[in-house]
Amino acid sequence: MSGSATKSATILIIDDDDEIRYSLGRVLSSERFAIEEAASGEEGVVRVKKGPFPDLIFLDIRMGGMSGIEALQHIRGANPKQLVVLMTAFGTAQTAIEAMKFGAFDYIMKPFDPAKVLSLAETALQANAEMDAVGDYKPTINSDDYKEGIVGSSPAMQEVFKVIGQVTASDVTVMITGESGTGKELVARSICQHSHRSGKPFIAVNCAAIPDNLIESELFGHEKGSFTGATTQRVGKFELCDGGTIFLDEIGDMALATQTKILRVLQQGEIQRVGGTETIKVDVRIIAATNKDLEKIVAEKDFREDLYYRLNVVRIKMPPLREREDDIPQIVDFCLQNLVKDRKTRVSKVSPETMEILSHYEWPGNVRELENVVYRSAVIAQGDAILPKDLPSEIIAATGGSAGTVTQPPFTIESAHGEEETLVEEHETIPPAAHGERSIDAALDFLHDELSKTEKPILNRLEEEMVKRVLSAVGGNQARAAERLGMTRTTLRKRIETYGLKS
Ligand SMILES: Nc1ncnc2c1ncn2[C@@H]1O[C@H](COP(=O)(O)OP(=O)(O)OP(=O)(O)O)[C@@H](O)[C@H]1O
Ligand SMILES: [Mg+2]
Repeated sequence: MSGSATKSATILIIDDDDEIRYSLGRVLSSERFAIEEAASGEEGVVRVKKGPFPDLIFLDIRMGGMSGIEALQHIRGANPKQLVVLMTAFGTAQTAIEAMKFGAFDYIMKPFDPAKVLSLAETALQANAEMDAVGDYKPTINSDDYKEGIVGSSPAMQEVFKVIGQVTASDVTVMITGESGTGKELVARSICQHSHRSGKPFIAVNCAAIPDNLIESELFGHEKGSFTGATTQRVGKFELCDGGTIFLDEIGDMALATQTKILRVLQQGEIQRVGGTETIKVDVRIIAATNKDLEKIVAEKDFREDLYYRLNVVRIKMPPLREREDDIPQIVDFCLQNLVKDRKTRVSKVSPETMEILSHYEWPGNVRELENVVYRSAVIAQGDAILPKDLPSEIIAATGGSAGTVTQPPFTIESAHGEEETLVEEHETIPPAAHGERSIDAALDFLHDELSKTEKPILNRLEEEMVKRVLSAVGGNQARAAERLGMTRTTLRKRIETYGLKS
């Protein structure tokens, strides 16, 4: 099947309602789309089996005779790659969600917004072409080979791996520098795992996240009554970590007084609890990290020079992701395989265009940002591959690419009866157009995070917005809104009052 959005593509409309076929056909008919119609599920299935396969099918869910869901199963049986958009009237959204499981590309609600119908057709046909291009996707890596969790075959990363290997046999102090998200902690853990301390604790302490007045107690512990609030004795991280490895993250943010005590651990291998007099021997390997320019901080006298030299015996510089573009496909595959393993997504492929865009982005947040983007896009993707349209718009914009979505101005179409009928709805519902349960999940995750940041009780806020949107979608018809929301009209009226939605 061609699936190209530029030459004439065949669109089959299967619906037992003559009016819907007529109006949908009119919205779609242009020199780019050749429209075919089928007046029942049975007829549609026969047409598809006869071939050639249409590029896209609009299929009604509720029809007399064979239902849309049944038809969808037959159609996908005949052509597993067939793109099908399901059509549903209000009240059958649940069915449509179910239907996504049988492999529908998307679904739309009646009455149609013509602009949305067109943009959906464009997106579907472009996805068709892109999906074809993915073909037999061969991941660049096998994640089982990366038990370390560190991926990268660029010369810069190979250098990092070599140094890790060199420092594991001794207890030498290592300083890891690099931008945020480049894998500093990952490298620290890997050093620990390969050393003789691997069976012992690895404790990470983020020096920037702990206030100056608490960091010493955190690291060295304190005696009961040593300061206000010290109601019991506390054992610090160094003592807890005895025999193991301590990772002092963001060491550039450590107060000078604390630095002095770290120096003592390094020189004498001993600590004292805050407010205590006893000297305690500890056997701990220190690995430090910072994303700051430590030399500059030393020059400004905010970091002890003697400690700097003690920590900086071996330096590992993590390269930013934008300087090792070639590692990007491997990291993407690694993330996807891990997500599939953890059953967080079924999407295991990436289209060539998507990989191209990912490889050209600057990645200010480095690998952590890339990981997040892969996760979010895999959740949004409807097919078996991540396409450019699934990527966050900032990334598309920053790389100068196009997500392939077509936005059309709203317009008016004539119904079969000849009278003017506005099918455009002025509102946008939950972001973006519903793409089945996985995108609903993603939207809910997003909503949960956003609403958690506000003061208002989450359910009230959600209810207010949903009531508002549904009312607007049905043109203020309270009976329909109540049915759609699944509440009685009395309850709806109460909510309208509570939230002041009268107008
Ligand atoms: N080379 C890599 N291969 C696979 N995953 C990586 C790689 N580098 C980093 N990651 C992943 O990216 C994320 C960020 O890594 P990590 O926390 O080690 O970075 P960091 O440099 O300590 O960042 P920050 O400065 O923000 O604390 C982690 O989830 C890590 O597993
Ligand atoms: Mg870190």
